[in-house]
Amino acid sequence: MDQSSAVLYTLLLCIPFSLSIFLLLRATSRRHRRLPPGNLGLPFIGETLQLISAYKTENPEPFIDDRVSKYGTVFTTHLFGEPTVFSADPDTNRFILQNEGRLFESSYPGSISNLLGRHSLLLMRGNLHKRMHSLTMSFANSAIIRDHLLVDVDRLVRLNMDAWTGRVILMEEAKKITFQLTVKQLMSFDPCEWTENLMKEYMLVIEGFFCIPLPIFSTTYRRAIQARRKVAEALSLVVVERRRGSERKKDMLAALMDEEGGGGGFSDEEIVDFMLALLVAGYETTSTIMTLAVKFLTETPRALAQLKEEHNGIRARKGETEALQWEDYKSMPFTQCVVNETLRVTNIISGVFRRAMTDVKIKDGYTIPKGWKVFASLRAVHMNHDYFKDARTFNPWRLQSSSETSSSMNMFTPFGGGPRRCPGAELARVELSVFLHRLVTQFSWEPAEQDKLVFFPTTRTQKRYPIIVQRL
Ligand code: HEM
Ligand SMILES: *[C@@H]1O[C@H](CO)[C@@H](O)[C@H](O)[C@H]1NC(C)=O
Repeated sequence: MDQSSAVLYTLLLCIPFSLSIFLLLRATSRRHRRLPPGNLGLPFIGETLQLISAYKTENPEPFIDDRVSKYGTVFTTHLFGEPTVFSADPDTNRFILQNEGRLFESSYPGSISNLLGRHSLLLMRGNLHKRMHSLTMSFANSAIIRDHLLVDVDRLVRLNMDAWTGRVILMEEAKKITFQLTVKQLMSFDPCEWTENLMKEYMLVIEGFFCIPLPIFSTTYRRAIQARRKVAEALSLVVVERRRGSERKKDMLAALMDEEGGGGGFSDEEIVDFMLALLVAGYETTSTIMTLAVKFLTETPRALAQLKEEHNGIRARKGETEALQWEDYKSMPFTQCVVNETLRVTNIISGVFRRAMTDVKIKDGYTIPKGWKVFASLRAVHMNHDYFKDARTFNPWRLQSSSETSSSMNMFTPFGGGPRRCPGAELARVELSVFLHRLVTQFSWEPAEQDKLVFFPTTRTQKRYPIIVQRL
């Protein structure tokens, strides 16, 4: 299995190991003869250590490869304190994602819910989830991006890049950009001292997601909980002020308060939780994808050259500082190949965790017992040579050959699927595209030092990808 990602930081779980539970589940698994084949590993820890050690290397694939070749694409394992059915199969993944709320429900451990807050979208279920998912969509769909957000994305990317000279730690810069953007999108604040301070506290919250086993005893986790309180307080003040004022803004906060727009009727606490979780969802994911796109491009000079050509072409039609328009975004075909290919090979969210709400029959006559954890691995599908030729190589041109495109696109699910499909998908694509546009038209760069990919506890490069930039 895989781990990772800001939202799901599911891996980083903090795990209530218990022998009795383990033995109980072993017994259950014997009664269900048609459980997918597999190995539950050692008591308590199952196969967690194997997973972690695989994901701390540059090549985590063997963890899945070994099990798929032994047992097939759906197998049983024991990870992070629970027996888990692991799916590396595209049809089973689709089935799991589409049956959200009917056969499966999202399932996150307590340590994560404490940090996210009870009222985050990821933890909501049923009708409330439906309503809030569509409210979120209505604040990040293509029309909103085209008419409102694109200008801010372009402006904030430029504002940040204007300060770049010499050595730049790309991941840090990308984080600043995505944080500022999300704050702007949520509550219309431009970067200022207040947002700077908020970001500092907020980074402590994020660190709490990476505490491995027992959070209650971990200083990082306690500090994260404290920081979360401070961030929540700061956001509450904004909510209170907004309720008092008469000015009508067009942002997520306004939508949450607006009776007609599908929001309304929420307490301040609910609104704050919801916003805080959105901040978590959009920030680490998008900044990581920005950093890794640059890494892959740097290591694939031919792709970088073609990308530059595309963006210089767009710039040639406009003044140097003129803002990007929606039509410009729509005329970046190769960039979209680079975006998709980066999403495919990096698998920022390597998969999603669910719990079976009832006994569920899946392919080959196997049954997932009620109450069991399920992990739908998006990564395993994206990295499978049967579905993507030479799957483990960054090759943006693969998406141009129509033979691969149509069938592979069905297998390409970096944003999940079904009722919980990422509502920020389009926004993330636009942010990455604009970031690349401004980067390649304004700078040349080279890596400042050797840096390598790791996949645990999240996908990232070890040194946050320092580069030396030169303004063109
Ligand atoms: C490259 C960037 C991103 C990737 C790869 C990504 C991926 C995903 C995936 C796979 C899920 C599904 C989780 C599940 O089914 O359990 C998800 C959910 C979610 N994402 Fe993203 N995401 C990205 C960026 C963003 C951004 C920019 C936002 C902010 C608007 C966002 C907001 C959310 C929210 C709120 C959910 C929960 C949806 C729900 O449970 O209904 N994501 N994301
Ligand atoms: C990129 O992926 C999206 C699906 O997420 C798809 O609709 C689009 O056609 C793809 N674009 C390219 C150029 O492959």
